Amino acid sequence: MRFHTRKWIKPQDLNPNGTLFGGRLLEWIDEEAALYSIIQLENPRTVTKYISEINFVSSAKKGDIIEIGIEVKKFGRSSLTLGCEVRNKMTRQTIITLDEIIMVSLDENGKPKPHGKTTVEYVADRLKD
Ligand SMILES: CC(C)(COP(=O)(O)OP(=O)(O)OC[C@H]1O[C@@H](n2cnc3c(N)ncnc32)[C@H](O)[C@@H]1OP(=O)(O)O)[C@@H](O)C(=O)NCCC(=O)NCCS
Repeated sequence: MRFHTRKWIKPQDLNPNGTLFGGRLLEWIDEEAALYSIIQLENPRTVTKYISEINFVSSAKKGDIIEIGIEVKKFGRSSLTLGCEVRNKMTRQTIITLDEIIMVSLDENGKPKPHGKTTVEYVADRLKD
């Protein structure tokens, strides 16, 4: 799992309990999954189809730095299945895990489109050619 993105917990990210609001965290995860998938599949029309069980393991508080990790579980025909873990950057304590986030590549009519990808690619390698 590679942790690409860091976030800083600010007052506007808190729930009435004074800890990180779950909806904000899910928004960040969904955006991270979308960006990751768009870059991998090279298709900006890539959307979230399915998110598996969400396990809020621990919380975060104002001022904490967290990091969002994504890994590829499976390349499908039009889909890409990702796993996600968010953890505290300093303590490495897990905050949330999502076993499966399924993203689907679409064509201009909003129908699933085969992406033709089978392995993780890196932009730097694409630019070498
Ligand atoms: C994405 C969408 C076009 C898929 O339509 P669909 O009729 O389910 O398409 P298909 O049955 O051909 O499935 C497409 C792929 O998604 C996978 N899939 C569909 N439903 C799934 C589910 N419930 N769980 C896991 N995978 C699923 C299929 O296995 C398939 O993968 P593959 O091509 O790699 O084999 C349609 O559901 C949609 O537009 N959903 C809204 C997406 C969206 O707007 N998301 C933003 C948040 S609101």
